[in-house]
Amino acid sequence: MSTLIIYYSKHHENTQKVAEAIADSIGADVLNYEFVDPDNISKYQLIGFGSGIYHGEPGKELIEFINELKNIGDKKAFVFTTSGQGTANYNYYLTQLLHEKNFEVIGGFNCKGFDTHGLHKIVGGINKGRPNEDDLKKAKLFAESLL
Ligand SMILES: Cc1cc2nc3c(=O)[nH]c(=O)nc-3n(C[C@H](O)[C@H](O)[C@H](O)COP(=O)(O)O)c2cc1C
Repeated sequence: MSTLIIYYSKHHENTQKVAEAIADSIGADVLNYEFVDPDNISKYQLIGFGSGIYHGEPGKELIEFINELKNIGDKKAFVFTTSGQGTANYNYYLTQLLHEKNFEVIGGFNCKGFDTHGLHKIVGGINKGRPNEDDLKKAKLFAESLL
């Protein structure tokens, strides 16, 4: 299945690492959202959308990017997030947004990411080294299970 992975990753490139691991495992194209031409999306059968979580939400620019997509039709998508908490509830925002755009969301992956935001900076950050090899392995298995 031809797959494009679009990511937003501004804090420590945590989400970028997950995006690249997934792309590597399933032979997908992978791009920072800034470099995606929305007109090119239609040639892919499956699109993955990934983001870090900032104040409870995915990156605003990625949200805007998805909101502006037009004429996508019925396409399959999956979502992934990295965050300080690493919890699956953070996938909900992107999932809902994609449903509104008529994507069929077929799965979600989430893991912890290194976080030096706010008070975490004082202790040198939390989740050092995350995503780690184990996280990336799980991300790959997740992606392979979608195909
Ligand atoms: C401004 C800011 C706000 C954040 N807010 C949250 C949050 O609400 N919940 C959480 O679990 N992590 C939060 N984090 C941690 C990030 O989600 C985490 O470090 C993530 O892996 C960053 O991904 P990135 O390196 O791809 O940008 C925040 C980080 C920053 C910089």
